[in-house]
Amino acid sequence: MDRRLFVSDLARYAALCAVVPNVWRVTSRPRFADDPFQLGVASGDPTPSGGVLWTRLAPRPLEPEGGMNGLRTTVTWELADDEVFTKIVKKGTATAAPELSYSVHVNLEGLASDRWYFYRFMSGGATSKIGRFRTAPASGATTPLAFAVASCQHWEQGHFTALGHLAREEIDLVTHLGDYIYEYAGNSRNVRTHVGLEIRTVDDYRRRYAQYKSDPLLQAAHERCPWVVTWDDHEVDNNYAGLMGENGMESVEQMRQRRAAGYQAWWEHQPVRVPRVQSWADLSITRTIDWGALARFWVMDTRQFRDDQACNDGTQAICDTARDPKRGMLGAAQEQWLVNGLGASQAKWQVLAQQVMMAPYDAAPGDDVRVSMDQWSGYPVARDRLLNEVARRAANRTVVITGDIHTNWVNEIRSDFARPDRPVVAAEFVATSISSGGNGSDVPTARLDAMKRENPHLKWFENRRGYIKCTVDTTTWKADYRSVPFVDKPDAPIATASSWRVEHGRPGIVAG
Ligand SMILES: [Fe+2]
Repeated sequence: MDRRLFVSDLARYAALCAVVPNVWRVTSRPRFADDPFQLGVASGDPTPSGGVLWTRLAPRPLEPEGGMNGLRTTVTWELADDEVFTKIVKKGTATAAPELSYSVHVNLEGLASDRWYFYRFMSGGATSKIGRFRTAPASGATTPLAFAVASCQHWEQGHFTALGHLAREEIDLVTHLGDYIYEYAGNSRNVRTHVGLEIRTVDDYRRRYAQYKSDPLLQAAHERCPWVVTWDDHEVDNNYAGLMGENGMESVEQMRQRRAAGYQAWWEHQPVRVPRVQSWADLSITRTIDWGALARFWVMDTRQFRDDQACNDGTQAICDTARDPKRGMLGAAQEQWLVNGLGASQAKWQVLAQQVMMAPYDAAPGDDVRVSMDQWSGYPVARDRLLNEVARRAANRTVVITGDIHTNWVNEIRSDFARPDRPVVAAEFVATSISSGGNGSDVPTARLDAMKRENPHLKWFENRRGYIKCTVDTTTWKADYRSVPFVDKPDAPIATASSWRVEHGRPGIVAG
């Protein structure tokens, strides 16, 4: 007996008898009045032999349950060598379940390394768009890598034009460093408007993801290649730290519930190979992604385990609390995982994929020092402890990629920022936002020069929207800063605003 027919008959039988609990019922032949694949497809977390394929059934994305009917629903997936699916490599079925907002995560295994594939999903007679996915190179290989660094896509503050351009780049991978959604209530005076109030419950977060995922340019960027995703604060609440909310209005228990809602919806909507947990509030997303022997990505989380921002948050003089050596950004377990791993990894490049700027930025002229309490500059002891380890274990083969700050930065990283005579040991490329902050502005040369005088480790700064394209081989890391001149209207062109290079084993970042 055909297994699919059997399952379908069983579901029909169960529906008739009504003795099987609702959550067990599976409908393998659903009927959709509207396209259930309106939120697109995605892939992520590639390994040499596999990765993750993602979709979510949502025939009416902004309605409760995305317009689904409460039944577990069978989704078929196909992976092919070719775009027209004549050479199917693998196929299978998955179940989209209401308790995971009808999301589907397919864990691919047994594929050839260093290869492109095409994939799609089918359910109830509907077929999704086609995505491209590729596996990572085999463990010893030094195949070059091209990838984009993106972050911060506030729906209301601009169009995702940069993602449309990113979808046409020749790249293997996208790293998204967080603020994939924003939690704020809708404000109709903006370029586009969030549906609903500030999001707090899991259904709120799901609907917000559904609104963002409906963007055709975001979908195109996901279809282009696999993504490696982490989160920042807005996936839960602006500037939260551990179980402290933005403005201290919520109790620890309320923040636990909110974090559980935000983390669960994040897991449901991202193509990640992150094991599910009993308690969503404690979902751990730190992981490594290897690109053969060329690069190891350390996907980090600087929100969940950090101590609360010191000195009243904001941009401040460094108060005594900030200097408390017990305060941390990563938590002890993540810090040990990273430090030990940096020493053990044989990969040519160590890539710290993380959220907040690691180099300090002194915003006050003259002897006065004022730095952001939300960035690593607000945790100077933890930062210099980590950078000392980078110096010892992976000097001048470590590149930090950063989001959060909605502007482009190129920073040389010293082993100890408290002591400017210490050597440069790493490079930091901070990617601007996709849309957050709106159009941006030109930075006059005099202003950039003044910023550099105050911050000698700063090489370049720009206030436009876009992403970084990195091209990496065993000797050179090249970073092209790709910018659009506006996001308040669609169809802005893209251009390379500035290009930078790091030579493997050599300190410093050079232009060109
Ligand atoms: Fe942001």
